[in-house]
Amino acid sequence: MIGIFDSGVGGMTVARAVEQLLPGHPLLYLGDIARTPYGTKSAQTIIDYSVENTRFLVQNGAKIVVIACNSASSVATDRLRQEFNIPIIEVITPAVQQAISKSLTGRIGIIGTRATIRSGIYEAKIREQSPEYKVFSKACPLLVSLVEEGWIGKRETKMILRRYLHNFKNQQIDTLVLGCTHYPLLKHLIQPRIGKKVTLIDSSAATALFLKNYLENNGDFQPSESHDPGQNRYFVTDLTETAEHIVTKIFGRKIDLLTT
Ligand code: DGL
Repeated sequence: MIGIFDSGVGGMTVARAVEQLLPGHPLLYLGDIARTPYGTKSAQTIIDYSVENTRFLVQNGAKIVVIACNSASSVATDRLRQEFNIPIIEVITPAVQQAISKSLTGRIGIIGTRATIRSGIYEAKIREQSPEYKVFSKACPLLVSLVEEGWIGKRETKMILRRYLHNFKNQQIDTLVLGCTHYPLLKHLIQPRIGKKVTLIDSSAATALFLKNYLENNGDFQPSESHDPGQNRYFVTDLTETAEHIVTKIFGRKIDLLTT
């Protein structure tokens, strides 16, 4: 079983992409809505929450865990790999690989939470592979709360996005990494504001593809012909109406959210 966690509903964009690419693999999801957002918290707090989330998934049968959160991937991956004896997949590496392969000019923008941007992990990973690339980063701390609040189409959200993206105006980037699993929900607002020539890299879709390759090359994880994605279980640490609404929007169908 594949375990997936995020600070809230953003990681559902990863779960949805995984469900579509790997329908024969059972999924177990945990959204830590009660403690969202993570991106504004200290690295130590995010590590502690990530350990608890992974423990929950493992105790409930996960044999591989996807950290469907850039903030947690940035600061907690090493600790989870030390503490749990199962494969731990993070979202940064897949997004970096796609960004490097898509960028023609080598000028890449990154948007993410404060924790992700502060960690400098995207710059470090891009430079490791392509030292000549230029990376421009901008923390967008308000966006996760706007998504979790369901304020996706609001005028205020568009204004805030315009202000954040203005930072890239003179950088001539040709690729922008959506370095937060909540941001795919804002993609249709980001693309017109950053310009249609800029390629958006969705860390959720990139991670699902990365996971598919990983499982196909690893004999321990075989899909089951009889598995129906309707049997996948989605847990949250707090059940809110807004969360139910966003999750329905992400999946295009009603998902029964279970409380932990
Ligand atoms: N969706 C998460 C991320 O990718 C978490 C955001 C948060 O809780 O701040 O960073």
